[in-house]
This record gives sequence, C-alpha cells and structure tokens, in this order.
Amino acid sequence: MQRISGNGRRSDARASGIGLPTRLLVLACGVAWLIAAVAVRPGSADVVRPTRAPEPAGVEFFEQRIRPVLADRCYKCHSAEAQQGKKLKGGLRLDTREGMLKGGESGKPAVVPGDIDHSLLIEAIRYKNEDLQMPPKGRLTDAQVADFVAWVKAGAPDPRGAAQAPDPLAARPDPKQFWSFQPVKDPPVPTVRD
Ligand code: HEC
Repeated sequence: MQRISGNGRRSDARASGIGLPTRLLVLACGVAWLIAAVAVRPGSADVVRPTRAPEPAGVEFFEQRIRPVLADRCYKCHSAEAQQGKKLKGGLRLDTREGMLKGGESGKPAVVPGDIDHSLLIEAIRYKNEDLQMPPKGRLTDAQVADFVAWVKAGAPDPRGAAQAPDPLAARPDPKQFWSFQPVKDPPVPTVRD
C-alpha cells in the first residue's frame, strides 16, 4: 500500500513537474492558433481587396441604376458627343470616370468616391443650391437621387475606363448586327479579269 501510494506520489510529482510547463505551452499554442484562425478567416480578405477593381455588385448597380440616368439626363450636355457638337456645358464630362473625378469649370470634382458632401454632382441633383441645379430642366426623381447618393457612398464603383472613348450607350451598336448573328450568305464570287 505504502509503496504504491509512494509510487503514486512520485509519479504525480513528476507529472506536475513536467506537465505544467507543457500544459502552458499547449495553452499558448492554442491561443496563438485561435488568434491566427480569426485573423485569416475568409471574410477578412474583403478588407484588403483593392478599391480599383469595382465589386461585381457595385458594377451591376452602376449599370442598372446610374448609367441609364446619366445617359438619359446628363450626356446631352456632359459627354464626348456634346463636346464634339460644341455643346459641352460647365466643362464637365460625365461619360468617363476620369471626367467625373476631375469635375468641370468649378475646379471641384463632380464625384468624390465615398464622400457625398464633397461630390458636386450630388449637390447639383439635390436641387438645394439655387445656383447649381442639374439637370437644369426637371429634377430627377427622389428614387434616382437616392440611387446616386447610395452609389457615391459605396465608393462610386464605375467600370468605365479612364479612356476618352465615347460611352458605348451614347452610340451603341445594334447587337443583332454582330457578325456571328448574321445568316450564312453565299458571297458573290469576284470576277477575275485574265
Ligand atoms: C441642358 C444641358 C444640361 C444637362 C442636361 C445637364 N447639365 Fe449639368 N451643367 C449644365 C450647365 C450649363 C452647367 C454650367 C453651370 C451652370 O450654368 O449652372 C452645368 C454644370 C454642371 C455641374 C458643375 C460642373 C462644375 O464643376 O462647374 C455639375 C456637377 C453638373 N452640371 C451635373 C449634371 C448632372 C449630374 C446632370 C444629369 C443628371 C446634368 N448636369 C445635366 C448643363 C446641363
């Protein structure tokens, strides 16, 4: 009995003598692992995603809610086409991302991504400033204004390049004219002169 309990005590002492630091080490590793697991969880990848490439959802919002309104209500006076016809107003191009960021004669950007208070376009379409109300004839609907506000707040995602190329909506080719949709034709054989 005594020997067994003595053995038991000895092995207990040994276990705690070696076991405590080991257990602390295991605990430390566990904590480190947890921290690492939290730090690299899939969602955190969004945080480091570069802002230059707009999110697909943002691009879709732009294509469905913003671009059509720009084309319909603004391009007449603020696009490459207007510029060609010498009808560009306020020195402002709204058919390129670059033009929006640069702004017009005021020297202020029309759009500051994420900042509605410094985006002149928002000020203009809200119709609160009597000296700058756009479009000049007829305010946009409240829903359209709200869309623009939401879009700028979301960082103004805009897939249009900075290129000076005219906006495709301004002169959109008929998709049905695309070559692969054309019926197969028997082209005339060229006449050859000997
Ligand atoms: C019929 C022509 C016309 C249309 C359409 C039009 N604008 Fe304008 N815009 C002007 C004129 C003219 C100015 C110059 C300032 C002024 O006279 O109020 C101007 C200036 C601006 C400016 C200030 C540019 C600067 O930096 O000085 C902004 C922003 C603007 N327009 C936004 C818009 C938006 C957004 C739309 C469409 C929702 C739009 N405009 C539609 C004629 C137009």
